[in-house]
Amino acid sequence: MEKKALVYTGKAKKLYQTENAAVLFVEYLDQATALNGQKKDKVLGKGALNNQITSLIFEHLQQQKIPNHFIKKVSEHEQLIQAVEMIPLEVVVRNYAAGSFSKRLAIEEGTKLVTPIIEFYYKEDHIQFLKVATPAEIVEIKALALQINQALSQLFQRLNICLIDFKIEIGRTKANQLLLADEISPDTCRLWDLNTNEHLDKDVYRRELGEIVPVYEEVLQRLLTAN
Ligand code: TMP
Repeated sequence: MEKKALVYTGKAKKLYQTENAAVLFVEYLDQATALNGQKKDKVLGKGALNNQITSLIFEHLQQQKIPNHFIKKVSEHEQLIQAVEMIPLEVVVRNYAAGSFSKRLAIEEGTKLVTPIIEFYYKEDHIQFLKVATPAEIVEIKALALQINQALSQLFQRLNICLIDFKIEIGRTKANQLLLADEISPDTCRLWDLNTNEHLDKDVYRRELGEIVPVYEEVLQRLLTAN
C-alpha cells in the first residue's frame, strides 16, 4: 500500500491517504511534547517504540474482540489503520489517582479508586449540545472504555505493570459503528512497575525524571515476552 497525500499532522504522528479511501497510513514520529506543546523535543527511536507498542496492544485488543482501527504494522515506525471519523473527545479512564486528578482533588498519587472513573474532555452536557456524540453513543463509549480498561489492566498485570490511567479516542465508521482509534502507548497511559512504582510512561518526560527511550523499550520488551 502506498503513502499518498498527508492528511493530518499531530504531536507524535502523521496520517497519510493511501490508494484505498478506507485505509490510512500512520507514521509515528520521533517527537515528544508536553504541557500543551510548550515542551517539545526530538527523541530518537520514540516513534518506532510507540508504533510497535501500539500495534501489539491493538492486536491484543482485537483478539479480545474489542473493535479497533488497527490493520497492520508495515514498518518499524508505520502502520495501516481503517479510516474513521474521529469523535472529538478525549476519554480518560482512571484506576488510581494521579496527574491532573490528584492535583484537582488533592488526592495522593497512587490512591486506588473504588471503581474506575471515566472522564470526558468535553463535559458530558456539552457533548450533546455540540452534537459531538449522541446520548446512546456516550453510553456505548463508556461501556467500551470499561471493557478496554479490563483487557488492558489484565494485560499489564501479566507484565508486572499497574495501569494507573489512560486516554483513548474513539472513531465512527461509515456504518456508524464505534471503534477504538488513535493509539495506546506509554504516551497515553500511566504505567507503574508493580514492585517499585517506577514510572514506565511519559511522566518520565513530563516530570523530567530521566530518558524515556529506555523506559519505553522496557514496556516493549515486557509486551514481547508476554506474546
Ligand atoms: P491527566 O492526569 O493529565 O489528566 O492524564 C490522564 C491520562 O491521560 C494520562 O495517562 C495521560 C493521558 N493524557 C493523554 O494521553 N493526552 C493528554 O493530552 C492528556 C492531558 C492526558
